[in-house]
Amino acid sequence: MKKIFVTRRLLKENEDKLKEIFEVKLNASDKIYSPSEIIEGSKDCDGLLTSVTDPIDKDTISKLSTKIKIIANGAVGFGNIDCKAAKEKGIAVTNTPDVLTDATADIAILLLLGASRKAYEGRIEAEREGWKWSWDFLLGKQMSNKKIGILGMGRIGRAVAKRARGFNMEIHYHNRSRLDDKLEEGAIYHKDIKSLFSISEFLSINCPATPDTNKIINSKTLNYLPSNCVIGNAARGDVVDDDAMIKALSSQKVFAYGLDVYNGEPKINPGYLKLKNIFLLPHLGSATKRTRWDMAYRATKNLEVFFKGEKPQDLVN
Ligand code: GLV
Repeated sequence: MKKIFVTRRLLKENEDKLKEIFEVKLNASDKIYSPSEIIEGSKDCDGLLTSVTDPIDKDTISKLSTKIKIIANGAVGFGNIDCKAAKEKGIAVTNTPDVLTDATADIAILLLLGASRKAYEGRIEAEREGWKWSWDFLLGKQMSNKKIGILGMGRIGRAVAKRARGFNMEIHYHNRSRLDDKLEEGAIYHKDIKSLFSISEFLSINCPATPDTNKIINSKTLNYLPSNCVIGNAARGDVVDDDAMIKALSSQKVFAYGLDVYNGEPKINPGYLKLKNIFLLPHLGSATKRTRWDMAYRATKNLEVFFKGEKPQDLVN
């Protein structure tokens, strides 16, 4: 029986399923292991089941046991793993696409709504005794009937577009390549960021974190946006230059920002915490029981298929 090192505690049903197929080393306390703890703990294992909280960089990969042949990441994003270094060492890497698309797109809409309709300030006011309705009380920006720019029109971006159509929004997007008509469903393609940003009254960030998208939202690109726009980030913190964003929020160039992901999570740039025009969540994009179950099940399937000697459907390197 192959042995799998599981870096974080899974839902019980998922751990039971894994145990039916593999010998497993589980993490009952759910402590976030350091790279050296992962290296040490997985010495006698054949594969890893990792999570978004595990940075598996080049150095860590070089020190992993040569027995390890696969890293099944329980996330759609795999920027936490140096896939190239893994491949060079003969280690397959898989992710868990599809199963978290709807949950993450729901959160992307929540971020835009929470930011634009002042959900954070609303909560503070609601808890304050004596708050009073008035004609100009906490006026936000209405999402309905506006133009939305979607940066990254993969599965999640398209699911955001689908929801935005329900708000009667005009859908615009930028992607590495243009989608075919069927996937576009009438969305308007912009071949560069400048063009997309210039019409984005609402901007939803749904692109993966790659060297190309690192800090793609910066002081220069923020300037392309219309004043008083609303931005939501359900992708990765790395995509945004926080200092530039904080400046844009302070000057109201950006009306409000909703974010679920951070540079150096779980740290949050303290500049955000001084602002009221933000709506923060602690990386809840895929946080529904159904979705988490599906993600761990999919990672388990990838491991199972791989150790049967077949190509896992979610191989990313
Ligand atoms: C979550 O952030 C994921 O990539 O699955």
